[in-house]
Amino acid sequence: MKRVLITGVAGMVGSHLLDALLEKGYEVVGIDNLSFGKLENISGNVNGPGFKFYQVDVLDFETLKILGKDVDIIVHLAAVKKVGEADSSMATLMVNGKGTENVLEIAKMWGSKVIFASTSDVYGMSPDIPHREDGDLLLGPSMIKRWSYAVSKLYNEQMVFAYHKDYGVPVVVLRYFGSFSSRSSFTWSGGHIPIFIDAILKDEEVIIHGDGTQTRSMGYVTDLVDGTVLAMKKEEAIGKIVNIGNDEELSVIDSAYLIHEIAHTGKELKIKFLPMEEIFGKYKDIMKRKPDLTKAKKMLGYEPKVSLREAIQITIEERRKILHNTN
Ligand SMILES: NC(=O)c1ccc[n+]([C@@H]2O[C@H](COP(=O)([O-])OP(=O)(O)OC[C@H]3O[C@@H](n4cnc5c(N)ncnc54)[C@H](O)[C@@H]3O)[C@@H](O)[C@H]2O)c1
Repeated sequence: MKRVLITGVAGMVGSHLLDALLEKGYEVVGIDNLSFGKLENISGNVNGPGFKFYQVDVLDFETLKILGKDVDIIVHLAAVKKVGEADSSMATLMVNGKGTENVLEIAKMWGSKVIFASTSDVYGMSPDIPHREDGDLLLGPSMIKRWSYAVSKLYNEQMVFAYHKDYGVPVVVLRYFGSFSSRSSFTWSGGHIPIFIDAILKDEEVIIHGDGTQTRSMGYVTDLVDGTVLAMKKEEAIGKIVNIGNDEELSVIDSAYLIHEIAHTGKELKIKFLPMEEIFGKYKDIMKRKPDLTKAKKMLGYEPKVSLREAIQITIEERRKILHNTN
């Protein structure tokens, strides 16, 4: 059975991917520096059969080199995501830039395949909806830190393909669209759905950036995991970019209404609109984001299985238990 190294294993996607791979009988080595991920996310599997966890930074090349030996596939998920205008973009640029280079270097050294987690953010403000993998990308100015995440992932994609072309490293780039679960970070780094769920369950204000008419295509994490496992197996995916996610589109404000309806709290929905400039400076929010899944369907046999409504239901149920146990 194949040996897989997951970077960012204690994060939302990483921990669910770990569950799926162990269930399928893979051997997994997982690393995470626990900067965003949580040990609870992997506690059911830590040092159990088939899994070894190491608290290691992807910037630590020497340790990565040792752990990457005898690994068939590296699923590279460790990354630093969105930054607000008041934050530093250094970690995003360094971890995503140098960390990805380290992963590619050890894959080249030991002959492993790399599945790289890119993001729908790279489509930026592209007006071509739904977003196709071969479409042009439209990013904003460098003076706005919010763009550092998209820019770092786009640079990563170029580097992944350079290692493929120049050194023959087998690579697949997956452009993940937004997903969530009860293991998401319940801060802005985890996206709007988890944070709205928490606010509604705690009867707090739901803070909406801008007017809430911007749409997103969000889905349940298991759909990202399914796409990732398919990409690990399919030879045809090597050297390709594939969108993975759910193409069900909903505006940010309607997602607040939907969560409120599903949660049945018996309390009124409280919404507060916050001007975008207060968080992201002159960043122009992306008004529409929807994947074209044709390639994923044809090439991988991929099909998202969990509707947005079901994903919210599952996450609310699990989040309620977590909040109940911590109170
Ligand atoms: N979840 C989504 O909706 C989504 C959408 C698009 C792309 N992605 C990409 O998928 C990947 C996984 O996302 P996620 O939602 O699970 O995020 P996450 O923040 O939950 O997980 C990322 C993990 O990487 C770890 N990490 C960060 N810096 C590290 C470092 N220097 N060394 C080792 N570990 C480090 C964090 O502690 C965390 O556990 C990321 O690369 C992200 O950019 C996710």
